[in-house]
Amino acid sequence: MKINIAIDGPGAAGKSTIAKVLAKHLGYVHLDTGAMYRCCAYYAHTHNIDIQDDRALEKMLNNIDIRFIGQTKVFIADEDVSEIIRTNENSMRTSLISQKKIVREKMVDLQRKVSTDKGYILDGRDIGSVVLKDAELKLYIIASVESRAKRRYDEYVAKQIEADYEAIAADLEQRDYQDMNRKESPLTKASDAIEIDTSNLSVNEVCEAVMRLVNKKIGK
Ligand code: DC
Repeated sequence: MKINIAIDGPGAAGKSTIAKVLAKHLGYVHLDTGAMYRCCAYYAHTHNIDIQDDRALEKMLNNIDIRFIGQTKVFIADEDVSEIIRTNENSMRTSLISQKKIVREKMVDLQRKVSTDKGYILDGRDIGSVVLKDAELKLYIIASVESRAKRRYDEYVAKQIEADYEAIAADLEQRDYQDMNRKESPLTKASDAIEIDTSNLSVNEVCEAVMRLVNKKIGK
């Protein structure tokens, strides 16, 4: 028996990392919904689209061709944007464009079309509360700002990208505030979601805890 798993929480709490490990372990499909909003922000920026202009956004949403290749690559049409959509600048732009109703409607529609069956793990901000309201398992992954900023900082350093810990922490806090206080589908913990604080846990420890929850759900 397969189930659907909804993972929500603030930025850099470990949602996608956990989702990827679980998907591999369970043979499920992982959809990183944040990457979809990141593609919209990147496309709008590189095509000089005014995100306050709904008509321009509508045209963009009809044209943008977001493709996931395997579990790690994201393309817009033929351009591999896997890395470029993850910069700090694009993260901030994403938090802004994802406030737009027209963008959310289109992305939610695409996400629901992908996950019509069971065996999906979606991670984002509104998965348990909007996209997959009937997911059998809902997780709300949190971590302290310090540990999230440290993880992001280490990621950048490993990739030899210039990084400033204080700036990363400030940006994360600003993004959390925007994502939690927007009008359209703000980041919120669904009433039936299970909260996990990953501040002092390794990826393995979190995945083991989640696997116990999954096994309980599927009656193993
Ligand atoms: O998960 P992430 O950090 O890649 O998400 C980037 C931004 O996208 C985040 O600041 C808010 C937005 N987002 C959203 O509004 N809804 C989702 N389901 C996923 C992401």
